[in-house]
Amino acid sequence: ARDEPAAGPLAGLRVLVSAGGTREPLDPVRFLGNRSSGKQGIAVAAAARDAGADVVLVAAHLEAPVPAGVEVEHVGTAEQLRRACVRAAARADVVVMAAAVADYRPARVADAKMKKAEDGSNPVIELVRNPDVLRELVDLRNTARRRQLVVGFAAETGDDRTDPLTFGRQKLARKGCDLLAVNQVGENLVFGQDATVLTVLSAAGGPEQVLEGSKADVARGLVERIGQELAAVRA
Ligand code: CTP
Ligand code: CA
Repeated sequence: ARDEPAAGPLAGLRVLVSAGGTREPLDPVRFLGNRSSGKQGIAVAAAARDAGADVVLVAAHLEAPVPAGVEVEHVGTAEQLRRACVRAAARADVVVMAAAVADYRPARVADAKMKKAEDGSNPVIELVRNPDVLRELVDLRNTARRRQLVVGFAAETGDDRTDPLTFGRQKLARKGCDLLAVNQVGENLVFGQDATVLTVLSAAGGPEQVLEGSKADVARGLVERIGQELAAVRA
């Protein structure tokens, strides 16, 4: 007997999800990193799989197990993540960039473990900008005229003049992606935690949607929204 074709709102579609946090080496034993656990991206990958999609997970230093039934590519640095995502995005119907990509990396990586200076001086570490992978994927999508939905994530705290969602709307416009899922961070929220609140912003002017609950609940809500956005452009 043949396998039943996958059912669900994303059946037959390819979804690329990036998750986790990149690490940028300083020397063979040290790196600059961040506190992303990868749990939200893992949950999105699992929800997309459950919705019938073929899922590729580009994984940077996850602190939780990868879901079964998902193809995984492990990466370390932002540059490695960029290469893996560009390759996988060429065949993807949906791209979800949930990874925390380091904005900067050390300008030089020492070949040998760095020693403290003998004259007692403190080191100054020069940083250079990493590529903006999300921006690049949007540009590639537009140039190739691919029918592809691109979703970004943003963790925002806001500051004394600007609230987190205003920063989110500005970021959505700057990145050129179709949806931006905004996490309001601070007050013990989000990093490594299981309960979360996401606000989904849409470039096409669809409703701003608040998703609340466990990371799995929120991921299911986001995947459902992705299905609706795809249905709207394909109608
Ligand atoms: N992102 C990316 N490449 C980078 C930085 C971020 O692809 N070098 C992606 C993230 O995966 C996320 C989205 O861009 O989906 C927003 O990340 P964020 O760090 O909030 O955006 P930045 O443009 O780096 O802005 P900020 O200055 O606020 O950090
Ligand atoms: Ca950033």
